[in-house]
Amino acid sequence: MASLPLTSVVILGGTGQQGRGLAQRFARVGLRVIVGSRDPDKARAVIAGWPGGGQPIDVASNTEAAAQSDLVVIAVPFASVDALLAEVAGRFTEGAVAIDLTVPVTFNAGKMAMLEVAEGSASEHIRARVPARVGLAAAFKTIPAHLLSELDTPLDCDEFVCGDTDEARARTVALVQLLPGLRAVDVGPLSRARSIEGMTALAIAINRRHKIHDARFRIVGL
Ligand SMILES: NC(=O)c1ccc[n+]([C@@H]2O[C@H](COP(=O)([O-])OP(=O)(O)OC[C@H]3O[C@@H](n4cnc5c(N)ncnc54)[C@H](OP(=O)(O)O)[C@@H]3O)[C@@H](O)[C@H]2O)c1
Repeated sequence: MASLPLTSVVILGGTGQQGRGLAQRFARVGLRVIVGSRDPDKARAVIAGWPGGGQPIDVASNTEAAAQSDLVVIAVPFASVDALLAEVAGRFTEGAVAIDLTVPVTFNAGKMAMLEVAEGSASEHIRARVPARVGLAAAFKTIPAHLLSELDTPLDCDEFVCGDTDEARARTVALVQLLPGLRAVDVGPLSRARSIEGMTALAIAINRRHKIHDARFRIVGL
């Protein structure tokens, strides 16, 4: 629920392109951040090289990390989601909310393509692999990693949130809005992830066509 205090967040794959900016930005707004990794020692070494500021960032194996907060961001490549969830799904706490930011795009010889996902979207694919007691939301799919990692640059955009329960959406909206310059736009049920993931592909295409790096979205009239 939106009124529940947000005190901590787990980021599985938090050393990666997308996860690292989120991890550092959440630590800077005062959350306890736990980064999950396949190799915690390597992850600790990576994080030691980050500029710091805010709360210290903890590291654990993915399996251990998944149980350490009731908000768990899934920030690994889509191709590795099945293996990750087979390992960690049983570890989510009762009432936890998982937040999916994966996008099923592939890059072959520089050419981008969307993968066909039988369930309709990466988020719905993940829904089928996470226990029913865990709420699932999607967020942080359209914001570019490059921008998230420029910690002092205002994000200055909207971030779409969809999810399968009111609580999952509300808690994710609250998490998004902790980050200065980011406005959460609740777009409804989890199936809207199909559109959001398509918009990420559109942003990548805009970046390429216009030789920029930070294309993102702002809804007018809202
Ligand atoms: N990059 C962007 O601009 C962007 C924007 C929006 C959404 N996304 C989405 O965010 C997700 C992560 O993208 P990314 O660019 O951050 O990916 P990435 O840097 O390649 O990987 C993220 C982390 O996932 C873990 N990982 C990598 N391969 C794995 C495997 N085979 N099995 C388990 N874990 C693995 C690694 O952490 P450890 O080595 O510590 O385990 C890695 O640091 C993707 O689904 C992507 O679609 C990315």
